[in-house]
Amino acid sequence: MEESFTCTKLHPTFGASVDGVDFSKPVSAQVIADLVKAHTYYGVLVFYNTGLDDLTHCEFSKQLGELERAPKFNSPDQPDRFSQPWLFDAGNTLIDGTLVQKDSRRWHYNKGNALWHVDSSFNQHRSKYSLLLSHRVPKDGGDTGFADIRTAYDDLPQEKKDMLEDLIIEHNLWHSRKVAAPEEFSKITEQEMAVKKPAYHKLVQVGPDGRKTLYIAAHSKRVIGWPDDKGLNLINELLAWCSQPKYTMAVKWQQTTRQLVWWSNITVLHRATPFSDQMEIRDMRRTTVFDDGPFAHGIPDAAEREMRGDLPAA
Ligand code: OGA
Ligand code: MN
Repeated sequence: MEESFTCTKLHPTFGASVDGVDFSKPVSAQVIADLVKAHTYYGVLVFYNTGLDDLTHCEFSKQLGELERAPKFNSPDQPDRFSQPWLFDAGNTLIDGTLVQKDSRRWHYNKGNALWHVDSSFNQHRSKYSLLLSHRVPKDGGDTGFADIRTAYDDLPQEKKDMLEDLIIEHNLWHSRKVAAPEEFSKITEQEMAVKKPAYHKLVQVGPDGRKTLYIAAHSKRVIGWPDDKGLNLINELLAWCSQPKYTMAVKWQQTTRQLVWWSNITVLHRATPFSDQMEIRDMRRTTVFDDGPFAHGIPDAAEREMRGDLPAA
């Protein structure tokens, strides 16, 4: 008999929890296809008690597309805490199991996750999915917030949609670090700048379900062809619009562990929320799946076009 699963809505317009997927063996191609269909519709899928480990987490993720190798933005000699090179460390421990200390560069770096964002928009080849697996969660707090940017886009007035339609945004990892921790990241080392240069993507995009969405994040630094402050004002206005309470929900992480949350980096925003990070361990590991759709590589020549003046009028 073919396996099947059921989805339970988490919010009126997006998100669902999923029951009935057996992760103890490879998931069949038919179930993967059905899951992708459900994910395309909901934008966020939550699975409880998956029993996944590092290897099976990566193997399931690979069934959804090509995986990004976890970047080492904290420092290039950052040691690997995990056996799999695909796993991004979204937790608060060091390799020796001690907590990331308050006021260390990594602690300041992690603050950027608390801003509304999508993963990897600062890459010219962006990602479509992230799959975050809990290994250990704090007693209180540490929920992950999500915002429905398809509905937020739909609700914009038509004149605004027309104004936004052709804009191109510069995404820069160091911008979100600076916004979250201005004292620490007022200076970016040359080495840091060299590991992550800006990327350029269209603001208004068509998601995998054919609905329009806003590709915006805390990494969004400026609008190409616009004065910096005018562009940043628009970006901040749109981030505030998208994160109005009516478009958002929070996913709680159950104590029972190995909960998986699979989100879209195209149709939803997400952010981390506070917990007692100097008292409790939160061990979270993430795979990130490259986008292979029509907007996957953004507008790589946007900065050159800006220099030539070949861009939409400000
Ligand atoms: C991430 C992220 C949020 C969280 O892993 O990309 O933003 O709640 N995580 O850990
Ligand atoms: Mn993230």
